[in-house]
Amino acid sequence: MKNLITGVAGFIGSSLADSLLDKGHKVVGIDCFTDYYPKEVKMANLAKALKNDNFTLIAKDMLDIDLASLLENVEYVFHEAAQPGVRKSWGRDFNIYVKNNILATQHLLEAAKDMPLKKLVFASSSSVYGNVEIPTRESTLPKPISPYGVSKLAAENLCSLYYHNYKMPMAALRYFTVYGPRQRPDMAFNKFIRKISRGEEITIYGKGDQSRDFTYIDDVVNSNILAAYSDSVGEVFNIGGGSRITINDAIKKIECLLNKDAKVRYEETQRGDVMDTSSDITKARKILGYVPSVEITEGLRREIDWLRVSDRLK
Ligand SMILES: NC(=O)c1ccc[n+]([C@@H]2O[C@H](COP(=O)([O-])OP(=O)(O)OC[C@H]3O[C@@H](n4cnc5c(N)ncnc54)[C@H](O)[C@@H]3O)[C@@H](O)[C@H]2O)c1
Repeated sequence: MKNLITGVAGFIGSSLADSLLDKGHKVVGIDCFTDYYPKEVKMANLAKALKNDNFTLIAKDMLDIDLASLLENVEYVFHEAAQPGVRKSWGRDFNIYVKNNILATQHLLEAAKDMPLKKLVFASSSSVYGNVEIPTRESTLPKPISPYGVSKLAAENLCSLYYHNYKMPMAALRYFTVYGPRQRPDMAFNKFIRKISRGEEITIYGKGDQSRDFTYIDDVVNSNILAAYSDSVGEVFNIGGGSRITINDAIKKIECLLNKDAKVRYEETQRGDVMDTSSDITKARKILGYVPSVEITEGLRREIDWLRVSDRLK
């Protein structure tokens, strides 16, 4: 079974690659190592995959290569490549979001539309919703409040319209804040764990009473595999972890796990940050059989262990 993963060196792409390789599948991965965070971190994500003969890395930008020839004999595409991050998506940098999130997706869909693919699974985001009623269902009208959210919704809509016009067998997964080993260094838990462990000050935007539905990485990986093998096509699914807690409560858990007190500085809420997220995962549960399996304390413990083993807590 041949799989293509875009954004394979990233947090989620590399975790998915390892899971597919462990199951004995062939994986071709593409990544251009954007400078959103250091290349060394991404190369470390790929360390295990690169030792596997079933893995091929194409270190190129999706917009600079002939994707159609790359897709030959590919059965499943997992489109994880994107420019992440809500806060950096304002201003001139929006160009990067348009390029890596919207244009790269359109480029992939154009190349894939005439191929006999079994499924194209798109990594969408809870950021497409904006400040909406929680728990949120897929039928809620998306009203993103960040340029990043707009770019992810545009890409998701592109996937849906290639399904409606070309019968492209796609599924879009709206991930809710993913965490665990390999979490991106700019994401809150990764930063909080490293800083609290070193006795450094952490910054919280707002009062810390904002909440997130945190989703453990293995559950996200599993949701991709379930969506790929499912008979359903053209559907959008919420992928949440069922662990909604406030940022203040998450910090208390980290303090407890590290046995250290956090030094916290509170700053003004950032533009584009939503107040609360909470997924209604009834649809993914019913159609895909998706059930989140790792709760927040255990997931945080595993992220701390990973940071410790990879020597990033000193
Ligand atoms: N991490 C989360 O909590 C979260 C939540 C919701 C949605 N998502 C989505 O999940 C996907 C993966 O996120 P992540 O956290 O692993 O991010 P990441 O930044 O770790 O991985 C994305 C990878 O895509 C690569 N990339 C970007 N543009 C590319 C291009 N044009 N050509 C080739 N490679 C390119 C980057 O170099 C990077 O390695 C993204 O689509 C993101 O929008 C993530």
